[in-house]
Amino acid sequence: MDEEYDAIVLGTGLTECILSGLLSVDGKKVLHMDRNDYYGGESASLNLTQLYRKFRPDATAPTDIGRDRDYALDQIPKFIFASGGMTDLLVHTDVTRYLEFKQISGSYVYRDGKVNKVPSTEMEALRSPLMGLFEKRRARNFFVYVQNWREDDPATHQGLDLKKVPMKDVYAKFGLEPGTQDFIGHAMALYLHDEYKEQPAKETVLRIVQYSQSMARYGKSPYIYPMYGLGELPQAFSRLSAVYGGTYMLDKHVDEVLTDPATGKFIGVRSGEETVKAKLVIGDPSYFGAGEMKEGQKVRVMEEGMVVRAICILKHPIPGTEDVDSLQIIIPQNQVNRQNDIYIALLSHHQGVCAQGVYVAIVSTVVETSVPEKELAPGLALLGPIFDKFVQVSPLYTPTTTGVEDQIFITRSYDATSHLETVVADVRDVWQRVTGEPLKLEKKVVEVQE
Ligand SMILES: *[C@@H]1O[C@H](CO)[C@@H](O)[C@H](O)[C@H]1NC(C)=O
Repeated sequence: MDEEYDAIVLGTGLTECILSGLLSVDGKKVLHMDRNDYYGGESASLNLTQLYRKFRPDATAPTDIGRDRDYALDQIPKFIFASGGMTDLLVHTDVTRYLEFKQISGSYVYRDGKVNKVPSTEMEALRSPLMGLFEKRRARNFFVYVQNWREDDPATHQGLDLKKVPMKDVYAKFGLEPGTQDFIGHAMALYLHDEYKEQPAKETVLRIVQYSQSMARYGKSPYIYPMYGLGELPQAFSRLSAVYGGTYMLDKHVDEVLTDPATGKFIGVRSGEETVKAKLVIGDPSYFGAGEMKEGQKVRVMEEGMVVRAICILKHPIPGTEDVDSLQIIIPQNQVNRQNDIYIALLSHHQGVCAQGVYVAIVSTVVETSVPEKELAPGLALLGPIFDKFVQVSPLYTPTTTGVEDQIFITRSYDATSHLETVVADVRDVWQRVTGEPLKLEKKVVEVQE
């Protein structure tokens, strides 16, 4: 029997929606299904009723912090680099026409008990209260080096081959203090832990350049954010897919992923009595046994750790941050004796995610102990009085197979990083596995009008 579709996509999280958008644009016939009656899965933004229903099914949402329609609260907070892989995807697919973006107002880092702006140029390094006088000069030299470094121009290398020399040697050459290394490696290069210092320095230097370029684009921070929440992103890519003929079915229970008993290859998906066939399937880990394995189900995903996230409702901006309406604060792990950084993302009604006068801070980190909520304490302590708090621990799943053999391609859970670059990396990885070719972002989509 002929396949009805080229691809079935399970789950409407951001990664899956980008992939179905790209496949549809590429001329593939795509069927996109979700067990929920809304778009976005874990990357959906929730209104107050939905938030309470999820975390406190027995309580009703308070009435004194605005109306349901004022709220679009992310479950997984992430920002977009003004100059990065996600902006490339948005621009090249032209889904920016469905979206409106706001600049995030500040990027901060925690050092020695205080919160300060992250300096991103040699000029800002010289002014930054993060460093003493002599350290400022050393940091300035380091930033000048990074800004001038060109891979193909040995004159800019100062004798360091960054493809071989570990980052710790580069820090040593410029004599940077451990606390300065913390903010460079964690608040600019955005590493979650310190293993990067042992790796060749090139990747770190490129990340610092990306941070500075993103910063230079709009000025206040390197990040932008979609109005009305991150949940707008999967919806925008779904519209792209639909424009190119993609079919969407929400509220559709997926009972079974069918494979050929002889070859093990994907055949189709069963929902109740109905079976839909396709050449391949792409889906998020929850459709392939993450959490609850059915009997006889093949193991295709494994747990790689957990992230704890606390959505905190505040009635004031974060103290000591010039009362900005939105920001990121990074607490480097060394500063609070941890192995993983703590992130704070703050948003407000300026981004259309909550009522006026309310601020939403999401504090998150990678779980290291058996009492995850306690690990957030250094972040929660920076917020001032917390009106209400919703804590969630989420396992991180990753596929155990490439999917090439059975044509079952699984995406990764949304990780603990504070930006969407790892989502773009997963999109590129799945695309390569599915098509056998690297993802090329061509301008061909741009001309199309609805
Ligand atoms: C909030 O969510 C509930 C539950 O999904 C939904 O019924 C309601 O329409 C939503 N309200 C608004 C204003 O979007």
